[in-house]
Amino acid sequence: MAPRPPSRSLAALVLTLLAASCAAVQRPGSLIGPGGTKYEVTFGPCLLHLNEPCANSRLKFYHIPSLDEQDHRLLNASDAESLNASQLDASLPTKIIIHGYNGSLYYEPTFKIAKAYLSEGGSNVVVLDWRAYSNMPCYPSAVLNTWQAGRCTAEVLQLLAKWSGAPRRFFFDLHIIGFSLGAHVAGFASAYLKPFRIGRITGLDPALPFFASLSRSWKLDANDARFVDVIHTNVGVLGKIDSTGHADFYVNGGTLQPACNNSHRPLCNHLLAPAYFAESISRKARGFYGFPCQSVLYFALGWCEEKRSAKNAVQMGEHCPTSTRGVYFVNTGWEAPFGLGLDPLLADQPEAEETPTSTEPIFTTQQDSQEFPETTRQTQGNTLHPTGFPIF
Ligand SMILES: *[C@@H]1O[C@H](CO)[C@@H](O)[C@H](O)[C@H]1NC(C)=O
Ligand SMILES: *[C@@H]1O[C@H](CO)[C@@H](O)[C@H](O)[C@H]1NC(C)=O
Ligand SMILES: *[C@@H]1O[C@H](CO)[C@@H](O)[C@H](O)[C@H]1NC(C)=O
Ligand SMILES: *[C@@H]1O[C@H](CO)[C@@H](O)[C@H](O)[C@H]1NC(C)=O
Repeated sequence: MAPRPPSRSLAALVLTLLAASCAAVQRPGSLIGPGGTKYEVTFGPCLLHLNEPCANSRLKFYHIPSLDEQDHRLLNASDAESLNASQLDASLPTKIIIHGYNGSLYYEPTFKIAKAYLSEGGSNVVVLDWRAYSNMPCYPSAVLNTWQAGRCTAEVLQLLAKWSGAPRRFFFDLHIIGFSLGAHVAGFASAYLKPFRIGRITGLDPALPFFASLSRSWKLDANDARFVDVIHTNVGVLGKIDSTGHADFYVNGGTLQPACNNSHRPLCNHLLAPAYFAESISRKARGFYGFPCQSVLYFALGWCEEKRSAKNAVQMGEHCPTSTRGVYFVNTGWEAPFGLGLDPLLADQPEAEETPTSTEPIFTTQQDSQEFPETTRQTQGNTLHPTGFPIF
C-alpha cells in the first residue's frame, strides 16, 4: 500500500536486481535467476528472497476454522500431518486470501474478507501471512518478494491439492483473493502451478508502483486462472490502470472513492477494494452492480453508452458470474453498506440529454471534488463520474 521512498542503497540494489531479472527472464518458468542464483539479502528491516528453497521461506499459511477470536492453524508446507491435524474440509472449495504491502494475518482490511467467508460458510478459509517479505518500509523488496511468495504458494497449494485426494477438483474450486501486491503473488503462484489451472483469482486493486514497467509475466492477467476478476479503486496511483482480467470493475470511476470524501489520499481509496469485496460475500447484501463499457479510455472520455438494464447489469465481487467478460463501471454509496443493489440503478436512469458534452471537464481538479454535490452522490451514470479520471 502506501509506498515510501526506500533508502538509497536499497533502491540501488533493487533497481540493479530488477534490471538483471527483467533482462534475464520473461517467464516464471525460467525465473531461476541468472544461473539459478539464490538471493537472501537483508537491508535493515528488509529481507529479499529470490529462489530460496520454500522450506526456508518466511511464508505462513493459516487455516482459519472459525470466527473465534484468534483461532488459526498453521499449515506446515513440509509436513503433511499438519494438514491432517488442521480442520480443513477436503470436500469444500478453498479460499486463499493474500494481503498486500505491510499486511499480516489479522490485518483488518483483508481479514474482513476471511470473516465474511466464515459467516457465509461453505468454504475453507486460508490466509497467507507473508509479512516478513512485505513489511514497511520495504516496498521495493516486497515487489521482488512476490516472486518467492508466489512460487512457495504454488508449492503449498500442490501439497494441499494432493492432500485433498482430488487435485483437479481442488484447483478447479480454488479461489485466490489477492489485495494489491497480493494480487501479483497470486499471479505468480498460478504460473508455477501449470499445467494445473486455478479456478478463480480475484485481484483487489492490484498494485501499480513498480509493476507498470514490468513484463507481462510479472502481473496478474487473464491467463492466470479460468476466471480472473479485478476490482479497481485507485487506478493510476496505488492501483494499476489497465484491465487485464476477464472482468474488470472500475468502482466510482476507478480512482477516488466517495467513502474517502473523494479525496486524493491514495491508501484510503486503495483499501476500499477489499472493503467492497468483503461486503459482496454475504448473500444478504444488496450487491454491487456494474454496467459495461468498451474500455477505460471510452469511460474517461465520456463515450460509454448509457444503456442500463437488468440484462446488461453484472454483479461485482464474490457472486460475479464466471462467464463475465469485459470492462464494467460500478457506483457505490458513501458508507457501508456500500452496495446499492440493482433497482435504484435502473430507476435512476439519466435521460438521453444528459450525455456529457465535450465542454465538460474530463480531468477535474481537487477543487471540483470538494464541490461534489451531496445530492448526486448515490448513483452517477457510468458516463462520467463527477470526480473525473486520473491523469495517466
Ligand atoms: C514443519 O515441518 C517440518 C518437518 O516436519 C519441521 O521440521 C518444521 O519444524 C515444521 N515447521 C513449523 C513451523 O512447525
Ligand atoms: C492423513 O490422513 C489420511 C486419511 O485419514 C491418511 O491416509 C494419511 O496417511 C494421513 N497422512 C499423514 C501424513 O498423516
Ligand atoms: C505497518 O504494519 C505495522 C505492523 O503491523 C503497523 O504497526 C503499522 O501501523 C503499519 N503501517 C501502516 C502505515 O499501515
Ligand atoms: C468524510 O467527511 C465526513 C464529514 O465531513 C467525515 O465525518 C468523515 O470522517 C470523512 N471521511 C473520511 C474518510 O475522511
